[in-house]
Amino acid sequence: MIQKPRGTMDILPKDVATWQFIESKARSVAAKFGFSEIRFPSFESTELFHRGVGDSTDVVQKEMYTFTDREGRSLTLRPEGTASVARTLIENGMCSDTMPLKLYYLINCFRYEKPQAGRSREFFQFGVELFGAADAAADAEIIAVAHSLIKELGIKNTKLHINSIGCPECRPAYRQALKDYFAANTAELCDTCKGRLETNPLRILDCKSPVCSEIAKNAPKTVDHLCPECKQHMDELEGYLQEMGIEYEIDPHIVRGLDYYTRTVYEFIATDIGAQSTILGGGRYDGLIKDLGGPALSGIGFAAGITRLILAMEKSGVNIESENRPALYIASMGKDAAKYAMGVVAKLRCEGIYAETDLVGRSLKAQMKYADKKRAKFTLIMGDSELENNKAQLKNMDNSQQTEIALDDIGALKAMLSVE
Ligand code: HAM
Repeated sequence: MIQKPRGTMDILPKDVATWQFIESKARSVAAKFGFSEIRFPSFESTELFHRGVGDSTDVVQKEMYTFTDREGRSLTLRPEGTASVARTLIENGMCSDTMPLKLYYLINCFRYEKPQAGRSREFFQFGVELFGAADAAADAEIIAVAHSLIKELGIKNTKLHINSIGCPECRPAYRQALKDYFAANTAELCDTCKGRLETNPLRILDCKSPVCSEIAKNAPKTVDHLCPECKQHMDELEGYLQEMGIEYEIDPHIVRGLDYYTRTVYEFIATDIGAQSTILGGGRYDGLIKDLGGPALSGIGFAAGITRLILAMEKSGVNIESENRPALYIASMGKDAAKYAMGVVAKLRCEGIYAETDLVGRSLKAQMKYADKKRAKFTLIMGDSELENNKAQLKNMDNSQQTEIALDDIGALKAMLSVE
């Protein structure tokens, strides 16, 4: 039997209501903050991610699904959305639109990672990006979008961790301070972090290996090495968050795994869903658009992993059931009634009503059982005598009340069905 590729998922009809619930909440929260949807290709030129996400990142070094097309071009399935949105802005001349520009997306992403609960190779993100606002008010607003989403989804046990990783002015000195600190412990670092010492010492700070994280505990903190402008930005963000009533803690170990970040970085951590606890992560990326060939334009955003949101909702006791019950099921007896029933359900559907009738030639008893299983709100039994008299009993399945209706009066039937 052919099975789905490792690290991918089938989202079955029984689970899809939860996905649709999250997607609709994501859209309504985005709308409330004035964000418009943007859609872009599932694959891009590989170079976009090398330049955008960064050569030293795990994503680019180890996790990309890269292939050569029939013309020899190197393409990559998107491992995230931010670089693509930045490319879209530049390519479509949107960098001179009225700012701030607020965009959101619901996308699938691909990363070759070791699958486990909350981590897959094809996964789904809700992301938002805000361009053209360098002020810390924009950071606060983006965090407020995330905060609002989490609240609307009913997720309870989360913590917001924020940090600033500085800017091109102050980061080199901080990097050096980190390098000096970790160099004294090189022998004990894990193999990955030994490599990171040269390429990206900041990433050692969020290494999950027990030895590295123990050493990282006393490492120099970014917040102590910020230039005055970055320090002020961070202070202002804290002021806004306090004003907005959003609780947070400063976590010097939040550095994020992508190279484009500057200044603010943050994560919402669910405290009860296991190792893959970051349900949402983001930050500011003031150099990205320029690095990709556009003008100097600041940006900030986040993305939330849908499967992790689902895990957190489950832990918070949120249970979404499908509400799509047929308004009417017509059980029929005999060929003529079955044909007539097809006409009635067709007319009701034209009126926007969900109605079903038998398609597989079941017995009356089996049809009623089916109606029950589908949780039909009303049923109607149609046989030769009902057809002859143009009358049938409409049964309310929730309270068993029966009402006589005229079979050819679709308006009256619709009115009966619309009464809850
Ligand atoms: P990221 O931290 O790589 O950031 O991913 C964002 C979120 O996507 C994570 O917090 C997690 O919930 C989910 N996620 C990541 N990888 C996986 C996986 N393999 N399986 C399941 N879920 C996963 C970004 O992607 C940035 N583009 C976010 C951003 C937007 N920063 C600024 N704007």
